[in-house]
Amino acid sequence: MIKLIKSTFYNEESTKQELTRFIGSAAQLSFGQECERFERHLSGYQGCDDSIFLNSGSSANLAIIQALLNLGRLKNGDIVAFSALTWSTNVMPLIQLGLEALPVDVELDTLNVSSRKLRQMLDQFPVKMVFLTNLLGFCDDIDEIAKICQERNIILIEDNCEALGSAYRGRKLGNFGSASTFSFYVGHHMSTIEGGAICTDDQELASMVRLVRAHGWDRNLNLTAQTEVRKKFNINSAFYSRYTFYELGYNLRPTEVAGFLGNIQIKYLDEIVQQRQRNYLELAPRIYQQSDRFYPIRYDHMDTLSNFAVPVVCRSPEIRDELVKKCEGRIELRPVVGGDMTQQPFFDRHERIFRKVLGRSNAKLIHEQGLYFGNNPELTDDEKAEIIDVFSGKTQ
Ligand SMILES: Cc1ncc(COP(=O)(O)O)c(C=O)c1O
Repeated sequence: MIKLIKSTFYNEESTKQELTRFIGSAAQLSFGQECERFERHLSGYQGCDDSIFLNSGSSANLAIIQALLNLGRLKNGDIVAFSALTWSTNVMPLIQLGLEALPVDVELDTLNVSSRKLRQMLDQFPVKMVFLTNLLGFCDDIDEIAKICQERNIILIEDNCEALGSAYRGRKLGNFGSASTFSFYVGHHMSTIEGGAICTDDQELASMVRLVRAHGWDRNLNLTAQTEVRKKFNINSAFYSRYTFYELGYNLRPTEVAGFLGNIQIKYLDEIVQQRQRNYLELAPRIYQQSDRFYPIRYDHMDTLSNFAVPVVCRSPEIRDELVKKCEGRIELRPVVGGDMTQQPFFDRHERIFRKVLGRSNAKLIHEQGLYFGNNPELTDDEKAEIIDVFSGKTQ
């Protein structure tokens, strides 16, 4: 069986040995130096000013929305556009935090929102923010999307949980908007078992995310931001400042175990991305070239394509169902990420949602006719040959 996730870590054996030594000798295992060191490493990798490490990508999505609300950049009832093809916890925080969630359809050949699709919605609705998912390492014309958002004074946040390492037109994805979110869940680009982050160049936003991440207190702010917040709220006592809660927050902190793992795994990240890109280029063209069975997916506009799964969109639900049957016990498959969010049971059960704005959408087609299999850096030649055999219809 070719599993979706083959290992917990890249270089698993040595990573586990180092982790065991670390746990045995660490003076502190709650949030501390290792986490902060990982934040600096991630900023270096991503090429941004600041990174805030959290306990999951879902937490990163929740924290960025709460931070924007706390800062007054978003207000209750504002319309936030999101990619219809995404993960549940991209759209759920919008609903949970009192925003109006507006789905935007994706292009069939990139699986992502394009400026064309976005414009269609912006011309109809007064959108305050776009929460754009860079699905499975791809993007469409995200530079044009960033330009439109800037011109119309719309906040652009990238959910980059599926695209760490991907680059488009000389820039890493995750650097096109005000901030971006990341996930380090097992099987994603690099693993801290569970983990997530927010990257940004916006210092005010970064400080607010740090408040949101831990109880609404100011302990993890730098001295300037801490002095500012204490002055604003007239907190002069060192004693009370330990338990002063300034803004709505949560506890979304990671542990030193995750920080330590991040510091090990990020050293391998370039290697992991290259290996996955090689796999993709070996497998995808040979699958997509069967144009009577599959829709082609474009990838040659990407400078670097970093994904953890290979998407396949079939020409009909019957072809997809036949493949699902054929892969049983041989190749582990999933729908294309979370699928079309407007088709999910939770979506229709909430007030603050734009229903039925998409009609017959590409997101729905991908939901009904798509699938993916894992793109592991450890895929063997035999496994790749098996995948090509199955998808080319050579074996029954
Ligand atoms: C687009 C997207 N956003 C957010 C998440 C949530 O990340 P996590 O699993 O770390 O909570 C995922 C998870 O796969 C995702 O695909």
